[in-house]
Amino acid sequence: MYMNRKDFVRSCGAGCVGLLVGPLLLSGCSGTKYVTAPIEGSDMVVPLSSFEIIKNKETQYRRYVIVQNDTLQFPICVYRISPESYTALWMKCTHQGTELHAFGDRLQCPAHGSEFKKNGEVQNGPAADPLRTFPVVVADNTLKINLR
Ligand code: FES
Repeated sequence: MYMNRKDFVRSCGAGCVGLLVGPLLLSGCSGTKYVTAPIEGSDMVVPLSSFEIIKNKETQYRRYVIVQNDTLQFPICVYRISPESYTALWMKCTHQGTELHAFGDRLQCPAHGSEFKKNGEVQNGPAADPLRTFPVVVADNTLKINLR
């Protein structure tokens, strides 16, 4: 019976597409980086380039990278303190052994909420002991993490 407003639906389409494209361009460079690294002798070998982010022809550096190998029961979180200084932390909670999550400069335990600093010290309990750490040597554009 009513025949007016027949073109009403066409007006939204093009305007909505632009809103969807913007967020996609902003995402992608700040997420956690996972690296599968080989073990040579007692060392895990990680390329320093794993920390690099090339953005507009400038090199920026990730604060940390999570390194894993199928032979290890837990991953290792490697923090970049400076170009010459790194810390490598076993991502196993010292409370009851849950795998930790990395958030910025902290490692957090999803089980009971313990938090650890990037040098492995306990920030918040119930964990009482620091994380296991590994010596790291920088040589030839690689990190050698000594698993002992
Ligand atoms: S196992 Fe990590 S806080 Fe309990």
